[in-house]
Amino acid sequence: MYLKRTSLMALAAAAALLAAVPVRADDIKVGLITSYSGANANIGPYMEKAMRLYIQEHEKDLPPGVKVELVVRDDTGANPDKAKQLAQDLVVRDKVQFLTGVIFTPNALAIAPIATEAKVPFVISNAGTSVITTKSPYIARVSFTLWQSSYPLGTWAAKQYKRAYTLVSDFGPGWDAEEAFTKAFKAGGGEIVGSVRVPLSNTDFAPFMQRVKDAKPDALMVFVPAGKFATAVMKSFGDLGLRSAGVKLIGPGDITTDEELPTMGDVALGVTTVFHWSAAADRPANKAFIAAWKKAYGNDSIPNFEAVGSWDSMDAIFYAIREQKGKLDPDKTMELLKHYSNPNSPRGPISIDPATRDIVQNEYLREVRMVNGSLQNIEIETVATAIKDPWKELNKQ
Ligand code: PHB
Repeated sequence: MYLKRTSLMALAAAAALLAAVPVRADDIKVGLITSYSGANANIGPYMEKAMRLYIQEHEKDLPPGVKVELVVRDDTGANPDKAKQLAQDLVVRDKVQFLTGVIFTPNALAIAPIATEAKVPFVISNAGTSVITTKSPYIARVSFTLWQSSYPLGTWAAKQYKRAYTLVSDFGPGWDAEEAFTKAFKAGGGEIVGSVRVPLSNTDFAPFMQRVKDAKPDALMVFVPAGKFATAVMKSFGDLGLRSAGVKLIGPGDITTDEELPTMGDVALGVTTVFHWSAAADRPANKAFIAAWKKAYGNDSIPNFEAVGSWDSMDAIFYAIREQKGKLDPDKTMELLKHYSNPNSPRGPISIDPATRDIVQNEYLREVRMVNGSLQNIEIETVATAIKDPWKELNKQ
């Protein structure tokens, strides 16, 4: 045992010597868990790029001598066992002082107990199922919840349409989107004429779209994970003739994710969504964000909401580091995160609700329009101002 351990230590020492970038003792390590392979392999790089860009632009604001190092790991998709293992390794071996990232809800749920046991603050920059933040006092969410977008969407939709169908991915955020939309749509006098839950692994939406078409709803509300899933849904919505049959496609903004819009084609035109951010938003902070992104990653590169969630997550992490002058205590970090706010996020004013550690933000009604030769999510109206997670608000004791 002793021998084994010393040889391991020798190996670790050798590896440290070989490492290209030496890590200084007072560097603060942030463990980013996201996807570079599997279903949403293209999303991980957006999250990492946003965090690296933030660090590059704001390193100068850190206390003297303090540096932030990002340690990046691939969870391979919705894979809770893998995510848990990665979080464990980041905490025990890499000694990270923050965990962040995570696209998929099952992964965030698997990481929650590690954050609690190790007392490592976990700043969620995507995963959006409402219940997640209740699973550890060391979680703060800077992204969104599906209730935040889908509930106001249901309220708005009830004023436009009588009969709606829902189609969602069969896991946490899909259940939330379906429940939130249905509750608000029915409360506004609408009728749900059918609901279908599609396995998360599914990428062929044609059979489901056929069922929707046969039911002849006025509107189809869809949630699927953003990225390639959203493009696949859009394609089969067009291919099966739902658009030409006059069905309106609506949903949380995941279904018209900005980086995929250029490849979705005309079928996306007129699709109406509710969401907390759009690449096309003309808020000065958003214009500055888009300009910094394009300068760093090329004029053709369009950031997405996962990038914005990651940018804002790093802003919250930097705030906690600055306030503690680089000497971090996890409980103090959580107190600070509970009171984090930024009046000038690319999405508008944001804050963390201290009671729930969940994000508070505006929700915008958007429509896909062709502007200057490209498809864009044009914000039409603010449908909810400084909205807290409605699921938590409705389920308060
Ligand atoms: C999630 O798993 O919580 C999730 C994944 C993709 C999205 C939104 C939420 O677009």
